[in-house]
Amino acid sequence: MKIAVYELRQDEKKKLEELKVKFGLDLVTTGKTLNKQTIKLSAGCDGISVLGRSSLDKDMLTALKKQGIGYISTRTVGYNHIDTCSAKELGLRICNAGYPPKGVAEFAVMLMLLTLRHYKPAMWRQNVNDYSLFGLTGQELGNQTVGVIGTGNIGTEVLKILFGFGCKLVAYNITETEAGKKYAEYVSLEELYRVSDIITLHVPLTDENRHFIDKAAIANMKPGVILINTARGELMDIEALTEGIESEKIGALGLDVFEKEEGIYHADRKTDILKNRDMVYLRQFPNVVMTQHMAFYTRGNIDSMVTWGIEGLFNMYSGKGCRQEI
Ligand code: COI
Repeated sequence: MKIAVYELRQDEKKKLEELKVKFGLDLVTTGKTLNKQTIKLSAGCDGISVLGRSSLDKDMLTALKKQGIGYISTRTVGYNHIDTCSAKELGLRICNAGYPPKGVAEFAVMLMLLTLRHYKPAMWRQNVNDYSLFGLTGQELGNQTVGVIGTGNIGTEVLKILFGFGCKLVAYNITETEAGKKYAEYVSLEELYRVSDIITLHVPLTDENRHFIDKAAIANMKPGVILINTARGELMDIEALTEGIESEKIGALGLDVFEKEEGIYHADRKTDILKNRDMVYLRQFPNVVMTQHMAFYTRGNIDSMVTWGIEGLFNMYSGKGCRQEI
């Protein structure tokens, strides 16, 4: 099988080489995203693999199909960058990747701790030898009521960790799960907004839930609420978040993802002019902790993403059935 691997990072190469040998693959690799210029790299390939920065809209999928591509994998869990309906219509088979939920779940809890203990302003002070305590009074995580929206693998792992901290836990999900019920009380969204000191999002981005957290949702939350997002930036309306921070309705934000982060995150932009004004504005606040979409980024997860992404393509191609076909 011949595969074109796009967006390949240095840290993925060792595992990819192992898989190449294991499955006897012919590989074409590039660090670039898949776009109108780079599509030609996949000419003559059976399948392609991407990460989250390549946009696979209807036009791109049609062009891939024309070129003879039959199989596509994204080495990510989220697949909101792929028009899966068009892919189905075109007869293209697609799979995503999986990894254990611990890495992202622990990162979400870390963001809760960082915001509760004012780590960002404390670090600023350290850097200029200011060891004062004024304004840095924190709160214990175990004394908080935390609302978890989305109780799939990651949300459930977050609940499990927070249960250990002694938090009061409420959860919202379309379907209640037995695992979720072990740690939390399922409540309506309105109730979750009403009682939670901290709210964390663990749902995939779909066309229906863009700006899930908007002005109306924030208006229903507790004053001083802490919002955590390690899922997708577009789940939160950035204008509403900014207003919430300015008015102090929102007590703090822990954001590993940001609306329109594409083209900024995962590269060195020190000397670039950043084209995301909201990001640059919000970043200045002491109570806004932002990280560069790295909650997933652990050694184990990287290996898992490459394995699932390549193995998935090979299994679909060789008719073996794929555990993660979409
Ligand atoms: C995912 O796997 O969905 C992630 O968020 C990782 C990122 C490389 C897009």
